[in-house]
Amino acid sequence: MDMDETKILIVGGSSGMGLALARRCLAEGSGVIIAGRNAARLNAARDELGCPAALEAAVVDISREAEVAALFARIGGLEHIVSTAADIEGAYRLLPEIELSAAQKVVDSKFYGPLLLAKHGAPKLSANG
Ligand SMILES: NC(=O)c1ccc[n+]([C@@H]2O[C@H](COP(=O)([O-])OP(=O)(O)OC[C@H]3O[C@@H](n4cnc5c(N)ncnc54)[C@H](OP(=O)(O)O)[C@@H]3O)[C@@H](O)[C@H]2O)c1
Repeated sequence: MDMDETKILIVGGSSGMGLALARRCLAEGSGVIIAGRNAARLNAARDELGCPAALEAAVVDISREAEVAALFARIGGLEHIVSTAADIEGAYRLLPEIELSAAQKVVDSKFYGPLLLAKHGAPKLSANG
């Protein structure tokens, strides 16, 4: 595929694996939208990536269906949707200390969130996606 014509949404693109992927995709010539819950983290990631014209950022919490639907309503067509989103805060504790809410956030970010991305994002994917 010609990466110059490729647009990729990377949820989790403000940090870690997603940020590294965004850097690589931009270097290959694709358009990239990085997404995450925290606008300041997204801005810091944009700065770290050098603010190229091919880079956009979008605030979204993928555990909230209305936010996922709104995201896809405001962006155009895409070739790929990637999620490296992971909210693991408080989840790696000994069982007696673990809060159910922390475990639920792991599942929300790593399972239900991507499910919602697929549900609302599939209609936005091009035939080449
Ligand atoms: N780092 C590694 O070396 C490595 C190796 C193998 C596998 N992995 C796996 O790769 C995944 C990502 O790891 P990472 O190290 O890149 O994590 P990370 O640096 O903590 O990044 C997580 C990203 O997900 C976003 N995020 C979390 N919850 C979200 C939500 N509900 N909606 C939207 N965005 C959300 C965060 O931004 P906000 O907090 O602003 O939303 C952040 O951009 C994990 O599943 C991890 O197990 C990582």
